[in-house]
Parts: sequence; C-alpha cells; structure tokens
Amino acid sequence: MKHLLQLSTLTKEEIMNILQDAIRLEQGEGLDSAKGKIVANLFFEPSTRTQYSFQVAEEKLGCKVISFNAAASSLQKGESFYDTVKTFESFGIDAVVIRSRQDEYYKDLVGKIQIPILNAGDGVKDHPTQSLLDLMTIYQEFGKFEGLKIAIVGDIKYSRVAHTNIEVMERLGMKCYISGPEEYRDEQYEYVNFDQAIEEMDIIMLLRVQHERHEQEMSISKEEYHKLYGLTMERVHRMKEHAIIMHPAPFNRNVEIADDVVECDKSRIFKQIHNGVYVRMAVIRRAFGG
Ligand code: NCD
Repeated sequence: MKHLLQLSTLTKEEIMNILQDAIRLEQGEGLDSAKGKIVANLFFEPSTRTQYSFQVAEEKLGCKVISFNAAASSLQKGESFYDTVKTFESFGIDAVVIRSRQDEYYKDLVGKIQIPILNAGDGVKDHPTQSLLDLMTIYQEFGKFEGLKIAIVGDIKYSRVAHTNIEVMERLGMKCYISGPEEYRDEQYEYVNFDQAIEEMDIIMLLRVQHERHEQEMSISKEEYHKLYGLTMERVHRMKEHAIIMHPAPFNRNVEIADDVVECDKSRIFKQIHNGVYVRMAVIRRAFGG
C-alpha cells in the first residue's frame, strides 16, 4: 500500500516512474487496470479540476467511484474529519483521495487508516498531483528538467502549488525564480523582479491570489496587480521563442493573466489540465502496487 502525501518524500526515481507511467497511460495503455476497485473522493474544500480529473482517472482505470458531498454529509451534524474518513474505510473501499483546508491533515490518519491515502491538496502545504502534472507538461515540452529556468509568480505564501513545485523542481535540477507582491512573500525564497526575469525564462508559471486564505483584502487593486505581475501580451512578446506559460487554474482573466494570453500559442494551461488525468491514473495504480 502506497500513500501519496508529499512529493518531497519521493525519490527522483519514483517521480520519474510516475511520469513515465502517466505518459504511457496518455498513449492509451493501462485502461481498466484497477478494475473493480472502489475509490472515494473526499473533498472538504471546493475543487473543479482536481476533483473531477481524479474521477475521470478512476473511471478510465475501471474503478467504482464515490464522490463525497461534504455539504450534505454528517459533517453538518458535527462529525469529525477523522470519523468521516474512518467511516469510508469501514465501508470496505480500496483507497481515498482527500483534499482539506488543514495543513498536513493526513498526520491524523496515517497509521490509523489501512487503505492508501492520495493527497489532493492540504492547506498551503502540498499538492502532489498538481506538481506531477506540471512536471509531466514540462517534461513533454523540453524532454528534461536539468538547467530549465522557471519563474513562479504571484501569491507564493499561500500557494501549496508553489511550495510543492519549488521543492521538487529544484531537486530535479531546475532553477526557480520567485516573484510577487510583498504581502504574499514567503521569506524562505529569494525574490526577483518579474520584468527583469521574463527574457531568460523557459517557463512562466502564474498563480491565483488565494483570497480564501487571506485575513485581509489585497492592498492593491486587481488592475494594479495586473500591471505589476500580470502576464500581458506585451510581456509574452518578450519571452524566449520556445518558452511556455503555465497556470494551475482556476485563473482570473485580466488579473494574473491577460484574457488573450490564456489560450495563446505559448500557453500550456489546458495541456496541464489534460495531463492531470494521466498523472492521477498513475498515482492510483501506484497506490494499488501497479
Ligand atoms: C490549485 C489548488 O487548489 O491548490 N488549483 C488546482 O488544484 N488546480 C490552485 C488554486 O486554487 O489557485
């Protein structure tokens, strides 16, 4: 049984194995390879892409899928997170996919839950399958990680996508350049000026401002944010010829990314979403020892 909780505990080799499996799955191999397994998707926080791409991945593998509706569950009667997960385990399901607002929620479960736990995002800490789909997209584009330069721009402090990506990308030999507003800085990283970095980057990854995690409103307007940190067409024209644009989505058009940039030639945003299905198939297979 293999959980997927944090990418930082996986070796480079394990990560490459997942990516290679995802690429094979994208080519049409492995359909129905987890036939009959029952997987429950427990999302305690809103999600479109992660939740439904897990569901598509499970269906393609032949699993039976239970989608948990937190708003119509006994959580509303005060049932705890732990008791909810334990209940699903007691039904005899084979794996759980969990997203929670709480950082490292899985610490309450590991050792007590005997089925694989796949982390679909915990608080501001980790988002392993998002990073894997980002890595798959980069690998398919460049055929390597070593030496690539990526700018990650936006609300770094509250972004589990940034935290997971920076750790794994640096470990795989990429160089991460971090930029974004003062109020969302994470002091563990060094910051660069976005406009000065653009010409040198192989990848520019924009992040959404995570308003739902902030206690205070952003101190600058959306227009001001767009002017300072938004990827506009003018900035796109300054990118290297082969460079690409990424965003985990949901994106705010005309805030962190201009409307006409979302689907421009350099954008791989919808390719990322597409790849999400295959990395999720790969991690489910891994969980079942495949
Ligand atoms: C991200 C998340 O939920 O962490 N979205 C996603 O999973 N694709 C990023 C975000 O919500 O901004």
